Amino acid sequence: MTECYEVSNSSVIAFPTKQVRIPVNDGHVVYIPETSRVLHVNEATIKLLDILTIPCTLKSARRRLKNLGLSPGPGELEEVLKVLIQKKCLICNGDFLSEKLSAETKQPLSYEVPRYASVHLTDRCNLSCIYCYNKRFRSKSKRNELSVNHWRRLIESLLESGVDQITVTGGEPLLRPDLLPIFSEARRSGAKLGLITNGCLVEETGIVEIVDAFDSVTLSLDSHLEDVADTLRGAGSYTLALSALKSLSRTGIQVRVNCVVTKLNVDDYQESRRFFLEKGACSVIPMILQPASSKDLDLRPTAEQLELFLDKNYDVLTSECGYEELYNNSKIGWVGRKRSCGAAVSEFAVGSDGTVYPCRMLMESEFAGGNMLEEDLQNIWTSSSVLDSVRKLTYDSIEECKNCDFFNICIGGCRGSAFKITGELGGWIGPELCHENMQFLRHKLVIAMRAVQEKGMENAK
Ligand SMILES: C[S@@+](CC[C@H](N)C(=O)[O-])C[C@H]1O[C@@H](n2cnc3c(N)ncnc32)[C@H](O)[C@@H]1O
Ligand code: SF4
Ligand code: SF4
Repeated sequence: MTECYEVSNSSVIAFPTKQVRIPVNDGHVVYIPETSRVLHVNEATIKLLDILTIPCTLKSARRRLKNLGLSPGPGELEEVLKVLIQKKCLICNGDFLSEKLSAETKQPLSYEVPRYASVHLTDRCNLSCIYCYNKRFRSKSKRNELSVNHWRRLIESLLESGVDQITVTGGEPLLRPDLLPIFSEARRSGAKLGLITNGCLVEETGIVEIVDAFDSVTLSLDSHLEDVADTLRGAGSYTLALSALKSLSRTGIQVRVNCVVTKLNVDDYQESRRFFLEKGACSVIPMILQPASSKDLDLRPTAEQLELFLDKNYDVLTSECGYEELYNNSKIGWVGRKRSCGAAVSEFAVGSDGTVYPCRMLMESEFAGGNMLEEDLQNIWTSSSVLDSVRKLTYDSIEECKNCDFFNICIGGCRGSAFKITGELGGWIGPELCHENMQFLRHKLVIAMRAVQEKGMENAK
């Protein structure tokens, strides 16, 4: 493909003016939104890129470089240009390698039932965490909850539809200990079952029963400091969750800690992480608070806190949070192009009454796709107009996002948050979250680039 784009003396070449430059200690990471490519360049190459932002021929590029006191040796300039062409970061005679680009971006979205689902056993909860995205649904009554037999049917149906990774959540799922045998059965049939719990009912439910039913347990614990953790999640929750962490990890089951990162705990994150690992967690996942209402915005870490957090935690974010996935076609510096936020495409959620929703953040009545006890999941998946409208949302209708340099890799952020804050699925998440998204993405690009370079993949062809 590159042959026909080889630079001849008469070719007019240009480096795209739309670019994001992120300074790093040994040069710059440069992101090209139009082609979703990332480059890591040194200071000398940055000067060349500056020159090339004005279209020119090879000869005039050489002359301009000379005027700046830079004279590349024989073949050096061509070598840099070749790399830029291979990475689709150079416009040559007015075009990127457009055929290849369209092949990369125009793959149809899959309509198959995803392999991953989260199931919400109950909307009841024994805690009342201040940031909970499920606040609106927390219920005191068991009224709409399904019987053991209904859940058995429902889980069987999920497995038959090809779902093989199920996260069991809620509300607090351990308020339904009667359902554990169903998960033990599902696990024996080969599915991967994970539990997310606040940990307070673990001892009461029984360690043996839990370990038999799940492949992994994620405990929600936000700080190594009891008062901070209890402020966020409720008095007494810290002691019980910590005790659950110790007991479960002794059995050898994978225990992760979900740590919701807020203004109150972000500065201590590293210490909390070290503490949880010492107590037996196999990993600690920082979850930046996802606002479920505009009130939650106040609890988000400030921009400065987030900046520092990202700087201090490069390694953790890379190794434990899969950021290098952003760089999935890393050999060619392609950081992908988001086509959807994942809701109703790569994930879905099942509510406590069997209703299918696009994702765990969109469990509102207007997004109910159908009920698994009344209709086959496959049918719900393919024929629900609600799921389809979420799936086919075209994010470029968000005015504020349209011309954003990060649009291809952000597409306006979490739709669940957008809906909860603005009341519209296609609403803008607002200046604070948008700013944070940008900061986050800048860091992600650098992290991804580093991860790939460390693995030596950047040079692979
Ligand atoms: C809704 S809870 C349900 C399971 C269980 N009750 C628990 O707290 O672990 C699932 C996970 O989402 C996290 N979570 C809740 N609200 C959140 C928010 N606004 N942003 C990010 N994570 C949140 C919780 O800390 C927990 O780890
Ligand atoms: S324990 Fe879980 S479901 Fe309950 S309030 Fe806290 S985050 Fe929400
Ligand atoms: S939310 Fe902000 S960062 Fe994301 S695409 Fe829109 S304008 Fe860009």
